[in-house]
Amino acid sequence: MGNIAVEVRELTKKYGRTTALQDLSFNIERGEIFGLFGPNGAGKSTFLSILATILRPTAGDIIVNGYSVREQPEKVKGEIGYVPQDIALYPMLSGRDNLDFWAGIYGLRGKLKKERIREAVGIVRLEDRIKDRVSRYSGGMKRRLNIAVSLMHHPRILLMDEPTVGVDIQSRGFILDALSALKKEGRTIIFTSHYVDELETICDRIAIMDKGRILATGPADELKRANGADDLETVLLKLSGENAG
Ligand SMILES: Nc1ncnc2c1ncn2[C@@H]1O[C@H](COP(=O)(O)OP(=O)(O)OP(=O)(O)O)[C@@H](O)[C@H]1O
Ligand SMILES: [Mg+2]
Repeated sequence: MGNIAVEVRELTKKYGRTTALQDLSFNIERGEIFGLFGPNGAGKSTFLSILATILRPTAGDIIVNGYSVREQPEKVKGEIGYVPQDIALYPMLSGRDNLDFWAGIYGLRGKLKKERIREAVGIVRLEDRIKDRVSRYSGGMKRRLNIAVSLMHHPRILLMDEPTVGVDIQSRGFILDALSALKKEGRTIIFTSHYVDELETICDRIAIMDKGRILATGPADELKRANGADDLETVLLKLSGENAG
């Protein structure tokens, strides 16, 4: 195990007759930023939901820091912070009260709770607006608050589903800086994005996904070199063409 944070073992997920994930096996190393890149419907969110123990695998398993999502979902939950694709916040409460609510759910109390809230707010740079109602936040600020929620119990692995979609440049910058800062602390980060520039900039490795399969994994420059392509979109097109043929 050693350096492996996430070990995916012959993972398959079906929704009725739709196969969303087909026999995936790969590893994610401790402390890396790992990106999932692929078209709509590739299975990225399904994969993150299984890792977050929200969905169960149809076959196979994922081992997270030694714990099985199938056999020990409660243990896995303690290792993971999950930022879903859809935003789950209470609009009538302030940012701070939203964090307070979630901190309580994580079992944080008293001084430690205060510290963790302050720390999370600092990482996503929401200090100035934390007392405002969430209904007054921009989309990017809500995203940053969602990320703060996922950080408070100090999970060793962070899952973020399209954390930068639809956010302005400043929020995007704050979010990407937060990911880099969390990596420096030794956390493992797994995220999805349709923006190839940010994937190339901050990911140590990228998995190219299509139709429930992983077509390739590696650092962006290696994926491009191996496929004689200048950008990741071309890599995806080339590999998915081969997969279909
Ligand atoms: N709850 C569900 N019930 C039935 N089918 C589903 C469900 N959720 C996802 N699917 C199907 O599973 C496949 C993978 O979907 P998923 O949401 O994981 O893709 P994605 O890569 O996250 O796409 P996007 O880029 O659009 O977010 C798709 O064919 C989708 O229609
Ligand atoms: Mg998705």
